[in-house]
Amino acid sequence: MRVVSIVGARPQFVKVAPISWITKDVCEHLILHTGQHYDHALSDAFFADLDIPKPVETFNVGSGSHAEQTAGILVKSEAALIRLKPDVVLIYGDTNSTLAGVLAASKLGIKTGHIEAGLRSFNRSMPEEINRVVSDHLSDILFAPTNTAVENLKKEGLGNKTLLVGDIFIESFNYIVNKIRKSEDLVRKPYLFTTIHRAENTDKVERLEKIISKLAISKMPIHLYAHPRLIKQSKLFNIKLNQGSIIVYEPATYLETIQAVLEATGVVTDSGGLQKEAYLSKTPCLTIREETEWLETLNGGWNKLDPNLELITSNWWELTGEYDPYKIFGDGSTSKKILNSILTI
Ligand code: UD1
Repeated sequence: MRVVSIVGARPQFVKVAPISWITKDVCEHLILHTGQHYDHALSDAFFADLDIPKPVETFNVGSGSHAEQTAGILVKSEAALIRLKPDVVLIYGDTNSTLAGVLAASKLGIKTGHIEAGLRSFNRSMPEEINRVVSDHLSDILFAPTNTAVENLKKEGLGNKTLLVGDIFIESFNYIVNKIRKSEDLVRKPYLFTTIHRAENTDKVERLEKIISKLAISKMPIHLYAHPRLIKQSKLFNIKLNQGSIIVYEPATYLETIQAVLEATGVVTDSGGLQKEAYLSKTPCLTIREETEWLETLNGGWNKLDPNLELITSNWWELTGEYDPYKIFGDGSTSKKILNSILTI
């Protein structure tokens, strides 16, 4: 059996890693890299940290408008899939690479599986929400990470092709934590690991100005790991990032990120993946969004939605309660369940 995974953006490299480990010796697994993310820290560094085999092809599609990027990936995916003739195509998450990958594969009549299916913010102004809905409706098997995701899919009439498998993130997280623990003694330090990259937070001048001015008055130092989109938009709007409590860092590799999250007093972010990585690290998280697709992380106050950063001047990280990661995200056997399912396709 030949399985092809289509990935292109930072969080997808984290999700494909356990699939590449588990398929070794069982079936052929090939990676197509769309090139949506191309900076070393956003791409190659993840392959190295997580020991992911090199892609068989990289499309080098790069940045552009949604239409340009999606169309570029669509054309190149189609050509690659015709050449590779896989039995199954796996797509991951909710990026433009996910959308284009599933479109190309399903129109070629190739069976598709969507890993991290069923997430919904119910906010169609997010490009990711559109990518999620289309990908779930087109895919043949939906690998849902949580009960909430399963319920969302049932409501859209997709229950009969849904499988609850837990969250594949846990496996990559545990893998990297083992690597870190071999060489480091981890201690909590007084800083907040911070990222902002969502279009809704970076692409309007008033919104970005507000977020930066709030971060600048945080009681605890803000270690801002600046995504290229944030750098680009702040330059465009002439907004200074290095001000008040904020210290700016380059984007970190996966290993550096997890280590910094494990040692941080708190995480401030608009990323989906980081909300979970904070939870798994038992590091309280403040999410700069109106909603989250990871409702379970709100349990016990480990994650708090604070779109306007009203809590930033308080000791918000001190207010936490019950904690049960395995109940929420599964027992770490997600990749095994996915493999068993695709082997019977
Ligand atoms: C994309 C995903 C988002 C995911 C995020 C993870 C979509 C619609 N969005 O957002 O769901 O959470 O990846 O990081 O697919 N850039 C670089 N170097 C790179 C990549 C991007 O400089 O390697 C800059 C470019 O200026 C580009 C901008 O960042 O225009 C945005 O990149 P893009 O891939 O369009 O979206 P992300 O914001 O990364």
